[in-house]
Amino acid sequence: MGFVQTGRAERLRIVELPHPADVPTFAQDVERGLLATPKTLPSKYFYDALGSTLFDAITLLPEYYLTRAETEILREWGWEMVRALDAPIELLELGSGSAAKTRILIEEALRVQGRLHYSPIDISPQALRASADALIAAYDGIAITAYAADYFTVLASDTLTFTRAVLALFLGSNIGNYDPADAAALLGALGRRLRSGDGLLLGVDLKKDRRTLELAYDDPAGVTAAFDKNVLGRINRELGGTFDLADFRHVAVYDEQCGRVDSFLEAQRNVTVEIAATQSRIVFASGERIHTESSYKYDPAGIERLAREAGFKLRRSWFDGAQRFSVNLLVKP
Ligand code: AVI
Repeated sequence: MGFVQTGRAERLRIVELPHPADVPTFAQDVERGLLATPKTLPSKYFYDALGSTLFDAITLLPEYYLTRAETEILREWGWEMVRALDAPIELLELGSGSAAKTRILIEEALRVQGRLHYSPIDISPQALRASADALIAAYDGIAITAYAADYFTVLASDTLTFTRAVLALFLGSNIGNYDPADAAALLGALGRRLRSGDGLLLGVDLKKDRRTLELAYDDPAGVTAAFDKNVLGRINRELGGTFDLADFRHVAVYDEQCGRVDSFLEAQRNVTVEIAATQSRIVFASGERIHTESSYKYDPAGIERLAREAGFKLRRSWFDGAQRFSVNLLVKP
């Protein structure tokens, strides 16, 4: 998108897309998930304003190595990543959150081409606005079109348009929160919006020993437990639920065969909860778990397979010094 250098307000457009009729609401997902056996809640509901703040705190934990490892890779190789496509490029980011790591790539792109159009997509309108405002204030050369909706909704919408070569970003191991079939479907939907030669930088966490992984997802300070339990707090606040968060304990287990860390909330006694918005009563036996998140880990062959299944070609992978994490350039053939 060409743009004339203008004031801050003119350089920021926030697009809020209506909730599509075929995508379940929070209330519908909660009702379906808590009446199912085993009980489950989609991890996308972690991220209200409090959940996004708790996630930012997780990224500072010594045990949660992912963010630091990815930042190390971007600091060392960001210059090469933004130069991998012919300039000028524009950036499209899925799940931008606070956009802290993205700044490294934005600064590299501005060094190459002076001006940059950046399109972040995030489910949390609060996080999206806060990070977009901060980027507009920090960089005179940036123009932003921000999309507050889930990825599939934006990728299916004709409000999303590009005028330059696109470097899409899906960082932070966010792809790990999709099971392999859904991961390929999401990247496939993204790929269909890109043109031949466009690229995707995909941040992928690597398989490693159980102890490191389980500590990363169950830190001794209890920040991850608070993050996990926030989904119950959200049900109380938004749907009139009666959860006592002290009745549940956070559990993280590495399933080596499936290559994923599963997070659960486990009832510490027999519990009955009412949810006003769905007029439901949910009964938990002591020890019963709600599955709240899967965080998939990959090896290089798995990354190559994922790229192929989504219709991309894996061109390059960069790793941190300790080989814990990878950033991968996938190119649309
Ligand atoms: C956002 N996502 C990639 C994080 C992860 O590592 O799966 C969410 C998270 N859950 C617990 N800690 C961090």
